Amino acid sequence: MSTLHKYHTFFSNHKTPFYFYDTGLLKRTLDEIKRASSPYNYHVHYALKANTNDTLLQLIKEAGLGADCVSGNEVKKAIELNFGADKIVFAGVGKSDDEINYALQQNIFCFNCESIPEIEVINELAKQQNKVAKIALRINPNVDAQTHKYITTGLEENKFGINLHELTEVLEILKQCKHLKLIGLHFHIGSQITDLNTFKNLCTRVNEIQHWFQQRGYQLEHINVGGGFGINYSKPDEESVCNFEAFFSLFKKFLQVQPHQQIHFELGRAVIAQCGSLISRVLYIKKGTNTNFAILDAGMTELIRPALYQAYHKIENVSVIQHSAANIQHFKYDVVGPICESSDCFGKAVELPETKRGDIIAIRSAGAYGEVMSSQYNLRDKVKSYFDTELN
Ligand code: LLP
Repeated sequence: MSTLHKYHTFFSNHKTPFYFYDTGLLKRTLDEIKRASSPYNYHVHYALKANTNDTLLQLIKEAGLGADCVSGNEVKKAIELNFGADKIVFAGVGKSDDEINYALQQNIFCFNCESIPEIEVINELAKQQNKVAKIALRINPNVDAQTHKYITTGLEENKFGINLHELTEVLEILKQCKHLKLIGLHFHIGSQITDLNTFKNLCTRVNEIQHWFQQRGYQLEHINVGGGFGINYSKPDEESVCNFEAFFSLFKKFLQVQPHQQIHFELGRAVIAQCGSLISRVLYIKKGTNTNFAILDAGMTELIRPALYQAYHKIENVSVIQHSAANIQHFKYDVVGPICESSDCFGKAVELPETKRGDIIAIRSAGAYGEVMSSQYNLRDKVKSYFDTELN
């Protein structure tokens, strides 16, 4: 039985669709991240792009995580919520002058630089502010993340990072940049990576790249290995907290760390995905030629992942609780939204207990890249959110 059944009355009494967040689970996840990373003194930054809901950010900040930002507004959000400028990293291939200027004014910890022209612009803007900006080179390590092609970032064909063959030129240019201080290297190869071997491959590549820098006399204080740790979308209740112990200990085992070095991570999905569900109501059951459609009041405007990445999210009928599952007939439904797009489909041939108009449907593991990627296409209302704490 889903852990969400206990909230059924609350769900029924509220206008759908909305996001529902389990802050108790978020706290347990944060405790586990702390427990598993602290023996190695790892710095964990939360990737704000996954979810910028203030209530959740507050809890994440209180747990002591830093902030990984990819826009000026994310930097601003992290500053406003007191993550601490010295714990903010700023990545992204297209930082605008205004965004760079703002981050310089705030004296953030580090700019993760993704190209030669960007390095030159940050140097120039830092000069105008009479500052020295701390930078890390985001290096494209050419490691295959074995994930969906839209969320792979560490291959040479991707737009992200500086390619290995450009490094000599970058070091030459850096010698001329008096307003930059190179403090580290940054990597991020992709998202929803579930095979830990992929991270082992990343470690091997980072070791090689570090060696290249050492041979040229560079001792870099910070190594940031990015995020990407995947979650179990099929079993949101059984594996509600990721195996952070296995994740961090793998880096401990395979990453060659110099005595002076500090290691950073940027986790998004693994922190927040399992804490959120999209709650909706069945508007209609429509008989198709070969299938039944369960038409929900939530659509790709609230959760775009299935339409954009063919992503799987577990779908549950939270209204069917009282009876034992054995007594209930199950049927297959194409679970779709109301938006005028054929891709507005949460799942095809989803087996559910017999489902009726008005039933509450939960789309699980939607805490990451759900609410933040929602839109008002078709002039839809902005999606609301509720928290488990509101039930008391
Ligand atoms: N660091 C950098 C530089 C990133 O680009 C990302 C994610 C992260 C950290 C955090 O990755 P995570 O730990 O969450 O995997 N919208 C897509 C995911 C896009 C990820 C973009 N970058 C989705 O819904 O699957």
